[in-house]
Order: sequence, then structure tokens, then C-alpha cells
Amino acid sequence: MGLVSLEDMCKKAYEGGYAVGHFNINNLEWTRAILETAQEQKSPVILGVSEGATRYMGGFKVVAALAKAMVEDLNIMVPVALHLDHGTYEGAKKAIEAGYSSVMFDGSSYPIEENIEKTKELVATTKKLGLSIEAEVGAIGGEEDGVVAAGEVADPQECKRIADLGVTILAAGIGNIHGQYPENWKGLDFDVLQEVNNVTEDVPLVLHGGTGIPDDMVKKAISMGVSKINVNTECQLSFAKAVRVYIEKKKDLVGKGYDPRKLLAPGTAAIKETVREKMELFGSIGKA
Ligand code: 13P
Repeated sequence: MGLVSLEDMCKKAYEGGYAVGHFNINNLEWTRAILETAQEQKSPVILGVSEGATRYMGGFKVVAALAKAMVEDLNIMVPVALHLDHGTYEGAKKAIEAGYSSVMFDGSSYPIEENIEKTKELVATTKKLGLSIEAEVGAIGGEEDGVVAAGEVADPQECKRIADLGVTILAAGIGNIHGQYPENWKGLDFDVLQEVNNVTEDVPLVLHGGTGIPDDMVKKAISMGVSKINVNTECQLSFAKAVRVYIEKKKDLVGKGYDPRKLLAPGTAAIKETVREKMELFGSIGKA
């Protein structure tokens, strides 16, 4: 099938009352685990890649080639999008050029007028190429790739101005943060989410920081227009935990247990289970 944009998958999710999982990839094992789970569960899926992870894997072309080839070689038939996560203005252009099927332009740190200008230009570029674009209003808190931001709550009127530019999907800060939530986290701001959903009409919304949000809040957010949920840390935690158990049991010292194909296998299996659980929670199983 090749890579697809978010347009159809998120519209269907918005209308069908479920969300598509965006799972960040970091390497080959991550990509394979997510794609195989999506195929097994007959779920659409979004491979999210930050610019940091893109650099780590070698660059935009490496990531685009890996995703495309893996979809083909593994015979993945469900819809798969390759989406730049929290892209800069320059990064979004590079991702488009390299063959990503979707980009996020995170202009939330710019003054709103500048965010609007840059988003507008990228909306025009992506539209022309049949790609999708996610925009952001109100910085998502926490730390990602060394960028630390306090959780903000978006201004619904600013969300409307960005949504009206024709973005495919919109991320609005509603008190969500990347990484693990602190003990004293107040939860998602559903009043703002409702207002944003009202004023942005039928533009599907994105929930970042999907790790550690209680299930009932996730379901409520989906019922209020959230159609894409980003998960990164939870896969990293389950991968690290499974590999740690392998090493603590000294399995790497037995036979060829040091072979990376053996050493990383429990981590890969753990990612698959985390992805499956999330797909079940988001309601995307069987929706491909
Ligand atoms: P978590 O790392 O908290 O799951 O958030 C992921 C994310 O929002 C990526 O954009």
C-alpha cells in the first residue's frame, strides 16, 4: 500500500469515535514491532519520528527509506503514515523532501502571528503534494529530545485561527506533558478541550504525552474529538525493562545470547505488547 497521509485515517477515526495511535520510532526494532502489531491487529498506525530520532537513525532519507521498505518487505497492508513529530519549519521541509507522508509543524514557541504565517505556508506545500500536516497551539509540557517546556493550556480562539488555515489535524495543549506525569498532575483540562473542539468544528484533535494518562481520561478525550494519540515513553520503558530482565538473568552470557537479535528480542516483544494495549484502549483494532 505504501505510506499514506493522516487525512483519511484521522477523519475516519474522528467520525468513528476512536483514535489512531502515533508511536514514536527510534530504530529498526521499534519500526518493525509497531508495523507488525498494526498488521496483526488490523489497525491503522502512525510512525512518529522526532528530528532527534531522525538524526539518531542517520537522517531523513534513512528514515523514509526504512519505513517504506519495511512496509513493503513485511507485506504490511494496513494504512501506515510516516509522520514528523514536533518538526521545526526547516525540518518539516526536509521531511517532505525525503518522502515522509505527513509532518507536524510545531510553531507553539513562536508568537501566534508567526505560528500562523509559517503554518499557512506549510499547509499550502503539503496540500499540493497530497500530504497531511499537524499544527500545534500551546506548548506540550515536559521534556522531549532535550527541549523542556512547561505544560500550557491552549487559547481556543488561537486554535480556531490555526485550524481555519486548513491543517489536517491540530494539537492543543490541555495540560498534557511528555514523559511520565508527576504525582501532583492535575489531569487533562476537559473544559478547554471541549471549547477547542467546538470552535475548530470538524478538525480532528491530537493528544500528545499519551504515556501514563489514566484510561478513563483517554476515553473521555477521544469522545471529545481526539483522533490521534502520541505514545513514546511507554514503549521506551517497556523495552528497557524487558532488556534489563534479560541481562540481569545473565542470558547474554549463555551461548550466543550476546547476539543483538537475541539480546533485543525481549524488548521488541515488549513494545509489541504495549502497542497492542494502546490500540485496544484507543479503539483502533479492526479499523484498518
Ligand atoms: P510520551 O513520551 O509522554 O508518550 O509522549 C509522546 C509524544 O507526545 C510525542 O509527540
